[in-house]
Amino acid sequence: MRDFSQSDRLYFPATARNCRPISDALSLILPRKGSVLEIASGSGEHIVAFQRSFPELIWQASDFNLDHCKSINAWICYANLFPQMPYALQLNVLDEEWVMPPFVQSQLMVILSINLIHIAPWSCCKSLVSHSAEYLPVGGRLIFYGPFRMLGQHVSDSNLIFDQSLRQRNSLWGVRDLESVKQLCMNVGLVEMKVINLPSNNFFVSFIKR
Ligand SMILES: C[S@@+](CC[C@H](N)C(=O)[O-])C[C@H]1O[C@@H](n2cnc3c(N)ncnc32)[C@H](O)[C@@H]1O
Repeated sequence: MRDFSQSDRLYFPATARNCRPISDALSLILPRKGSVLEIASGSGEHIVAFQRSFPELIWQASDFNLDHCKSINAWICYANLFPQMPYALQLNVLDEEWVMPPFVQSQLMVILSINLIHIAPWSCCKSLVSHSAEYLPVGGRLIFYGPFRMLGQHVSDSNLIFDQSLRQRNSLWGVRDLESVKQLCMNVGLVEMKVINLPSNNFFVSFIKR
């Protein structure tokens, strides 16, 4: 086993709050077997918890930030999950090709994106959706978690304030309109949108490849 420094482990404050509700929502739709590719895994706290909760699945983490990949790998070591759980891929959602280990790609059933598309340019959402349609088999799922606008409207004042703060940090960021995400998905055969309301005005949104 590679030895990752435990000081590389990062702690993202929201994870402690949203990990359980996301896990509960996942439990309703995850397949029994196969692999899950998480895009933008951040600290890695979510995916390590999911690997523990759903041990029959292979959870493949990724992020474009090297420090985040180090953190994910340190969490995997800390939780003693390697080799059951593969080490993180340094993957940019915008990469033309998503390179993953053959044993992950051949069993891929779910692509998961937690709190990415509002903290990244719209081009990242487009790439996420088009690559998901490319890599998922029929019956596979693309899952988002995060805040969304519904029919162009924020669902709460706090989401409006959050959106304004995101756009001040980067004019290309912002809380996305669920209808726009749905349209992107429908265009590439990701259909049957299911939406679950989760705490703090966040949504768990899944599509299935047909
Ligand atoms: C708000 S954090 C969310 C992290 C984690 N999913 C969570 O909810 O705790 C956004 C993450 O997206 C990653 N990210 C941003 N742009 C990306 C890109 N183009 N490709 C891959 N990851 C990206 C960042 O490095 C960061 O880890």
